Amino acid sequence: MLGIAKSYAFIALIILLFGAACVIAAEPNTASTKPDPFKMNKMLGRGVNIGNALEAPTEGAWGVVIKEEYFDIIKRAGFNSIRLPVRWSGHALVEKPYTINPDFFKRVDTVVNWATSRNLPIMVNIQQYAELYTEPLAHKERFMALWKQIAEHYKDYPDTVLFELYNEPDDALTPQMWNEWLKEAITIIRQSNPNRTIVVGSANDSWITYLKLLELPENDRNIIVTVHHYFPHNFTHQGAPWMTPEKVAQSHEDMKVVNQNPNSDPNSNYNSWPGTKWMGTAEEKKAMTDIFDIGAAWGKEHNRPINLGEFGSYYKADMESRARWTKFIADTAAERGMSLMYWEFCAQEFGLYDRDTKSWRKPLLDAIIAPKQ
Ligand code: GLC
Repeated sequence: MLGIAKSYAFIALIILLFGAACVIAAEPNTASTKPDPFKMNKMLGRGVNIGNALEAPTEGAWGVVIKEEYFDIIKRAGFNSIRLPVRWSGHALVEKPYTINPDFFKRVDTVVNWATSRNLPIMVNIQQYAELYTEPLAHKERFMALWKQIAEHYKDYPDTVLFELYNEPDDALTPQMWNEWLKEAITIIRQSNPNRTIVVGSANDSWITYLKLLELPENDRNIIVTVHHYFPHNFTHQGAPWMTPEKVAQSHEDMKVVNQNPNSDPNSNYNSWPGTKWMGTAEEKKAMTDIFDIGAAWGKEHNRPINLGEFGSYYKADMESRARWTKFIADTAAERGMSLMYWEFCAQEFGLYDRDTKSWRKPLLDAIIAPKQ
């Protein structure tokens, strides 16, 4: 009797240990089955970019050093997700094999873990790889090598870590070129991350109006498409020093795509933008919803979930207009089933949170996350 009981106990122990091993093995990579990208997009909900930090030449150079407490502050305010722009290209060998600095990897790991340990999904991208705008072909091999390393490094991270291929493909990285590159990058990522949700932006700065140029690998369904929205630029980017006349001209061209008159003179100097308000008139609202309807229709036609990865306004615009515009854009995107991420958390330029006084800019926060009644 005792012998049988002992062997039962032994078998039970084995089953228990095996079960525990399975749980432990399943823990780090919950992406063992393909996540539904639509559910994933829902989970992203209303999020925020932690920008001007890891995509600066070095963290802190643009004023923001990411702190663990930020994740509690963001979560407590009601945000559902984070987008993390990263300048990998500034922390990797320039020559083959383009090795990413292990210390930089460690820093990004720390930040990613701060998000995942609080159940905040986090979208990690490649951003500020300036050479891709000017001489993309000379940097293609390096771009792909960065993705191979990033993908392998995070392959066992939970499926709430998403990879976004590249922020705002533009200029010399043409829409045609981008369509080829994105397929190659996805193939590379899929070798180590068959089930990772990948986020892909459209070309020409990821404006919604250019979604029509985007070609995705048809049979890879685990993809979220991301777009950015800063229209009208004469309001959102008034006084921003990096708005060049070329960018302004492109913004005006983009408005014409949706048959809209840019509400400032196309030939005017962008220095004349300061003072532009956004009153939320019926006409101003229609100009926005027309653009978002194009995005929603594209998503429906192609059966792809859409994320609004960046929208925001520069601090020089008046706060009332900023709050009005931000609320209208957030709600317009959400009503069309898009997840959204405000640009950005705590830099001076667009920031929602004043890190010196440790307080939210309430009108902006309330515009995105409705205050509790
Ligand atoms: C882009 C840039 C970022 C800038 C933002 C708004 O995402 O990468 O640096 O602040 O657009 O212009």
